Amino acid sequence: MKILYLSPSSALGGAERSLVDIISAVGKLKPDWQLELITAAPGPLLTQAAELGAASTVLELPPALAELGDSRVNFSSSRTEMPKLLALGLTQLPGLAAYLAQLRRKIRDISPNVVHSNGLKTHLLLGCTHADFPAVCHIRDFVGRRRLVRRVFPWLLPRRAVCIANSAAVRDDLLRIASAVPCRVIYNAVDTGHFCPGSAAHEFIDRAAGMPLAEVETKRIGVIGAFGRWKGLDLFLDAAANVVKTLPQQALRFYIVGGPIYQTKGSQYTIAELRNQVACLGLEKHVGFTGFQEDPRDFYRALDIVVHCATQPEPFGRTIVEAMSCGRCVIAASAGGARELFTHEHDAYGITPGSVSALADAIVFLLQSPELCRRLAQNARQTVLQRFTRETLGAQLTALYQELAVD
Ligand code: GLC
Repeated sequence: MKILYLSPSSALGGAERSLVDIISAVGKLKPDWQLELITAAPGPLLTQAAELGAASTVLELPPALAELGDSRVNFSSSRTEMPKLLALGLTQLPGLAAYLAQLRRKIRDISPNVVHSNGLKTHLLLGCTHADFPAVCHIRDFVGRRRLVRRVFPWLLPRRAVCIANSAAVRDDLLRIASAVPCRVIYNAVDTGHFCPGSAAHEFIDRAAGMPLAEVETKRIGVIGAFGRWKGLDLFLDAAANVVKTLPQQALRFYIVGGPIYQTKGSQYTIAELRNQVACLGLEKHVGFTGFQEDPRDFYRALDIVVHCATQPEPFGRTIVEAMSCGRCVIAASAGGARELFTHEHDAYGITPGSVSALADAIVFLLQSPELCRRLAQNARQTVLQRFTRETLGAQLTALYQELAVD
């Protein structure tokens, strides 16, 4: 059996790290299957997939197409963005046609039993190639919330596509715009052997952030993840300012672990604007930026509280599960797929998304409730072992591929 994976990006954000889990889980369960990966951009995903034994190649999307995305439309209040984006798209048509021809040829050469596409761009590109292979489109976003994509999505999806949604919330959203598309929910997994509880020298996170070593009593609170504008990093900083004011006696450090790793224009925070906010809040001594980390495991371990504070519903929220797997005390914005990952006050602490005071209150409350924190952290690890393992993921996917390949 031959499975071809397609990924729009090779940066190691949540979607791509989930793809690494997929390739590893399937490879382990079916060592004689042939796994191949094509990405539309160079980057570390290729190396990781190759290390897992998947033949990996780049078919580079022209930069103008790689930067094209509807995030601008979604994040801009201006209705003028949509026509601008469409006009820009039209100028790229010749480049797109050439790319599609190349992709079509490549897929035919490989001749897979199943093509598994991991991102919106490759779902649409694959649909446009009209390559007639069974396809799995892994939906990791709320497509129905994308003002532009939702209109074309049902028409451009590959003809024989079955969708996987990374949460029930994402599936429900998809079915609202494409009710006829077969879709099943398969949760992401994490490598529970790697993301496991363990000690981390706290100072190393200060060093990574270029800060002087903090005093021993310092409590460390951090956000780990991508820099999408809806991830609430500005809200995290505002909440940090509140917490510092509320607990003047407590030594505190806040960290932002991540960077703007994707190519799509206008969709991410820049470090400069976040640093500027830190300066305006007078938090320079309290906040550190570590930059993007390919392996965030020890960063989770170094934090007393891991925060997820997306301001819009999170499709899944991989960082929540990674942190839980490391046995951390997690605060998570309770909306979208993220809500399906934990039980409030059992294995994590849920908050209302988009509220600075809710986040600040939760941080203060948990800092003052070490017993509760310990319990949440312990239960979190158990939840992950029961619900988010690579073994379960591998079994679900291989069953799906086999079902599609015989159709
Ligand atoms: C996307 C989603 C995120 C999810 C990840 C892996 O990045 O935005 O919520 O965790 O995919 O499925």
